[in-house]
Amino acid sequence: MPFVVTEPCFDCKYTDCVSACPVEAFYQDEHMLYIHPDMCIDCGCCVPECPVEAIFDEPLVPAPWRHYVQLNADRARACVSGVTENITRPQEPKLGPRCGKK
Ligand code: SF4
Ligand code: F3S
Repeated sequence: MPFVVTEPCFDCKYTDCVSACPVEAFYQDEHMLYIHPDMCIDCGCCVPECPVEAIFDEPLVPAPWRHYVQLNADRARACVSGVTENITRPQEPKLGPRCGKK
């Protein structure tokens, strides 16, 4: 089961998670990051790196955020059409207006 980025990442994008990933499985759009389910090797290394605890093992994704499982898959795979891009290095956090306002 792949790991999944969920609601707390939206508009925050701390990006500490990407440094921990040995297989460069993270993708981003302007709002948040997503994990490519075909690339994730389920190591769990990214989980403790996220300051807002946005990353979960797929079976442990909280019920209100279950739709993020499919969203991660859809958005990461959409990289082929340029909708998202691979992110392999940390960048300045977005810290947008919705960050932390869930
Ligand atoms: Fe990368 Fe491991 Fe996190 Fe999957 S669980 S996204 S392989 S760091
Ligand atoms: Fe998002 Fe947390 Fe990574 S806020 S960018 S999942 S460190």
